[in-house]
Amino acid sequence: MFVSVVVPCFLLVLYCVAPVLSVSSTWGNISNSAQLLHAENVVYTSSPEKYVEHEIKYPTNGIGNGRIITGIRAFDQVTNNTGGHATIYSGGPGFNFVNIKLQSQYNYGLIFRVEIYGK
Ligand SMILES: *[C@@H]1O[C@H](CO)[C@@H](O)[C@H](O)[C@H]1NC(C)=O
Ligand SMILES: *[C@@H]1O[C@H](CO)[C@@H](O)[C@H](O)[C@H]1NC(C)=O
Repeated sequence: MFVSVVVPCFLLVLYCVAPVLSVSSTWGNISNSAQLLHAENVVYTSSPEKYVEHEIKYPTNGIGNGRIITGIRAFDQVTNNTGGHATIYSGGPGFNFVNIKLQSQYNYGLIFRVEIYGK
């Protein structure tokens, strides 16, 4: 994924700036009527010679309220190209649970806000 982003950046610096600086993700649909089921702010300071990982589980205690997840947003708050990325590895939109993993870049920390919406 990085290779395809880096090469065109030499030609199209301005076009590429926004996607490269932070890796925020959205899954599913977040409509105006969706309810915020869970929000979590994750902050880890830089970690020399390490990848920082953080797992988000919804529902937190394993017992949901039966609501189906319709959309999820993971906002990377780091804007200087040292941010991390988010991956869903189980559940998600259409399910009543989700497990999300946030991972930093090597040597750096994580600052994310994750929002889970449902109906
Ligand atoms: C998102 O909304 C579009 C248009 O309403 C719909 O076709 C699509 O199936 C929805 N996707 C999910 C994951 O709910
Ligand atoms: C990048 O931004 C983060 C968060 O704002 C900050 O902690 C970090 O020191 C910055 N790193 C560099 C290399 O500027």
